[in-house]
Amino acid sequence: MIYIIMAEEGKRLKMTDINEIQSYLQQNPWLLGTAIAVGVFLVYKIVMSIHDKKTPRGFERVAGMYELKKKIYQEVIFPFYNAGKYKKFNLTLPNGIIFYGPTGCGKTFFVECLAEELNMNFIKVSHADLASPYVHESVAKIAETFEQAKALSPCIVFFDEIESLVPTRAELSSHATYKKEEVDEFLNHLNNAAKNGILVIGATNHIEMIDPAVQRSGRFDLKIYISPPDADARAEMFYDALKGMPHEKGLNFDELAMMTENYTSADIVNIVQSTARYAAVSDHKHITQKMLERSIREIPSSLDMSELEYQSYEEE
Ligand SMILES: Nc1ncnc2c1ncn2[C@@H]1O[C@H](COP(=O)(O)OP(=O)(O)OP(=O)(O)O)[C@@H](O)[C@H]1O
Ligand SMILES: [Mg+2]
Repeated sequence: MIYIIMAEEGKRLKMTDINEIQSYLQQNPWLLGTAIAVGVFLVYKIVMSIHDKKTPRGFERVAGMYELKKKIYQEVIFPFYNAGKYKKFNLTLPNGIIFYGPTGCGKTFFVECLAEELNMNFIKVSHADLASPYVHESVAKIAETFEQAKALSPCIVFFDEIESLVPTRAELSSHATYKKEEVDEFLNHLNNAAKNGILVIGATNHIEMIDPAVQRSGRFDLKIYISPPDADARAEMFYDALKGMPHEKGLNFDELAMMTENYTSADIVNIVQSTARYAAVSDHKHITQKMLERSIREIPSSLDMSELEYQSYEEE
C-alpha cells in the first residue's frame, strides 16, 4: 500500500528504505491509518469467509429428514425465490404455515432454520409476549408485532404454541369474550401478510385445538407435519452431539439410530449428555459404544404416543 501510493507520486522507494518511509509517514500520517484500516478489513474478510464456510446455516443444520426438507423446499423455499414463475401460473405465496407434531421433535428448530434458509428477518412471539390482563393491550401487541414485521419485511413472524392464540370455537367460548378480539386482530393481519412481505409461521403440538377457520385457504395455507426424527436424522444427531467429546473410534451410529426408533430429537441430545456425564464422573478417558447403548436402554423415549397416533391419523 505504502509502496503503491508513493509510486503514484513518482517517489519510488524500496520497502527497505526505512528512514525514508518513516519520514514520509510523518508527513502523511493519514497513510498509516488507511493502511491499518485496509489491513484490518482484509483480515476480517478472511476470517469471515473461513467462518462462513465452517458454520452450517439453514437446512444444512438439520440432520436427516430428507423427505421433509424436500417438501419444504418445494412448497416454501422455491416459491419465495421464484415468485415470477409462481405468478405466471396465477399462484400466490402462502400467508401462513403451521408446523405441527409431537413435542421435542424440532418444530421450533425447523422454523429457525427456515428463516436462515430464506434469509429473512425473524420475529419470534410466544404466548407470554402477548398475554395481558387488559384486552386492548394484547390486541395492541399483535398489531405492533405486525407493524414491526412490515417495517422489517421480508420478515417471518413466528408464533410458538399458536393454539393458545387461535383456539377452536369451543375453546374460545370457555375463554373470556375478549379473546375473540385478539383472534380477529390476528386474522386481519394474517389475511394481508404476504402482501406486506410477511410470512406468518405457527408451531403447535395440538393442531386439533386450532380454529378450523384459521386453517382455511388464504390463511394458514400450508400445514407441515414434523415427525419424530427418522433413522438418518438420529444417526447424524448422535454424530453431531458426540463430535466435540472424546469417544472411542468406530462408533456405530447406525446401530444407535436403530436402537432409538420413536425417540425425540431432544431425547437423543439427552442420551449423549447423560452418557458424557457418566464418563466424566466415573473418570473414563472417553465415551464408548457400550456406554451409549446402556444409556439408551436406561432412558425411555419421551415421545407422547397419543400425539403420534393423532398425527398419523391426520396424515392419512
Ligand atoms: N433434524 C434435526 N437435526 C438436528 N437437531 C434437531 C433436529 N430436530 C430437532 N433437533 C434438536 O432437537 C431439540 C428439540 O427441538 P425443538 O425444541 O425444535 O422441538 P419442538 O418440536 O419445538 O418441541 P416443543 O413442542 O416442546 O416446543 C433442539 O435442540 C433441536 O436443536
Ligand atoms: Mg418448540
